Amino acid sequence: MEVKADSRKFHEIECDALVVAVFEGEKPEEGALAEINKRSNGVITSLIETGEFTGKSGESAYVHNPGDMKARRLLLVGAGKREEFTTDSVRKLAGTAARALRGKKARSFAFLRRSQLSIGEGAQAATEGALISLFDPDKYHTSDKTESRLEAMILAAPDADLDEVKRAIERGRIIAEATNFAREVINEPANVMTPAELARRAEEVAKDYGLELDVLDEARMKDLGMGSLMGVAQGSAEPAKLIVLTYSPKAQSSETIAIVGKGVTFDTGGISIKPSDGMEKMKYDMAGGATTIGAMRAIAQLKPSVNVIGIVPAVENMPGGRAQRPGDVVRAMTGKTIEVINTDAEGRLILADAVAYARKLGATKIVDLATLTGAVSVALGDVYVAVLGTDQAWIDQVLAAGKKAGEKIWQLPLDKEYREQIKSEIADIKNVGGRKAGTITGAYFIREFVEDTPWAHLDIASTAWNENGKPHLAVGPTGVCLRTLVNLVCE
Ligand code: BES
Ligand code: ZN
Ligand code: ZN
Repeated sequence: MEVKADSRKFHEIECDALVVAVFEGEKPEEGALAEINKRSNGVITSLIETGEFTGKSGESAYVHNPGDMKARRLLLVGAGKREEFTTDSVRKLAGTAARALRGKKARSFAFLRRSQLSIGEGAQAATEGALISLFDPDKYHTSDKTESRLEAMILAAPDADLDEVKRAIERGRIIAEATNFAREVINEPANVMTPAELARRAEEVAKDYGLELDVLDEARMKDLGMGSLMGVAQGSAEPAKLIVLTYSPKAQSSETIAIVGKGVTFDTGGISIKPSDGMEKMKYDMAGGATTIGAMRAIAQLKPSVNVIGIVPAVENMPGGRAQRPGDVVRAMTGKTIEVINTDAEGRLILADAVAYARKLGATKIVDLATLTGAVSVALGDVYVAVLGTDQAWIDQVLAAGKKAGEKIWQLPLDKEYREQIKSEIADIKNVGGRKAGTITGAYFIREFVEDTPWAHLDIASTAWNENGKPHLAVGPTGVCLRTLVNLVCE
């Protein structure tokens, strides 16, 4: 779908539907609604008077032949309370409208600017919301595929600086397409999306958008002493890959941000095998890795002024005759020894070597992204991503980037006391810390390998997959944190 800007008055725009957000309690005869109401012979007044539509968030009303305007239909969508309206509301409204109108076989719709939010931020959010909403995880359906005739969304911004709106649309498109790329990759089943295939997708991104790519094979990882990562990989017939994408700005920068994403293409749990119920979902255990590659794709186009490295340790966690056993002791690249108590706590094992490699490559700041713990859903449900780290200024930057992206992130503590839980009798550290504070002890384990580099860890285990679908979002992979990472690097 194309996204265009149009500075004409709403009634002059030719389209299948005009989308108008209406705030709760808004008077149809006043302000910006008055002219729409008048040209549609008071249809808004009548919808509100009958109680059919009140402007509450989630409500909508659809009217054919709305009257004296070039739009063939009018879609009113509830925008909720005006004082609670944010850029993220625009994102959700545009997404809800696009998905609804696709279902009604519309080819084009105009989205009317309705708030005092910055025009650039609003246009970017509307573009992101609409394009992200139109993704569906139905690639493998051979019939009943979602059909879309949508060709254009027109952002109706009367009297606006069109160049500014066009730049915002372009930025929104880059971010939305990168998000949908990540979702496509996450959604692939594990028989397709092996570590080698993930590396191949990264290679495509590198070629298409001009990034440097290095894929380390197992021999190189062994040479580097990555015993922690290799221990996880050894149970699988699929060879592990360590994917490294590098973006370098035109002007030299002393700062290098490393984004490190967990890329477990399937997590059976290994010898500490998971229950079979729901295990099919563990194909999304590479969401952090796919989102890292997606973020690098957007970063390559948005061209920030800092160096950025995207690192994805890609492995499959399998049981088998060569698999590592509970109780095994492995040596990580930093030289630290690890007692592997539970082979299902594999994410932190591969990240230990990946963050150490980020340091070796010269990272001055690290952010990692991982479907690390089931415990994060106990702590925060599927609403918030958890962030933990060592450097409060860096964590604050992550929180601010998330806020701007409309992605909810909540900080959990990482005090020294939690170190007790991952003490081992026979090695420097063990890979699980018992039932208490699972998200924190998982993060603490990674902390042991980042040493003094400012670092933040994002646990996306409960937010990377959308169980039920929403009016603005399909079921399945969400690509969560991609926008946060892009904001973090590009501000
Ligand atoms: N990949 C899982 C975490 C996960 C759980 C992701 C649910 C998405 C949904 C991770 O590798 C894992 O198995 N973690 C264990 C850690 C435990 C053994 C300390 C967990 O959370 O149970
Ligand atoms: Zn696991
Ligand atoms: Zn896992």
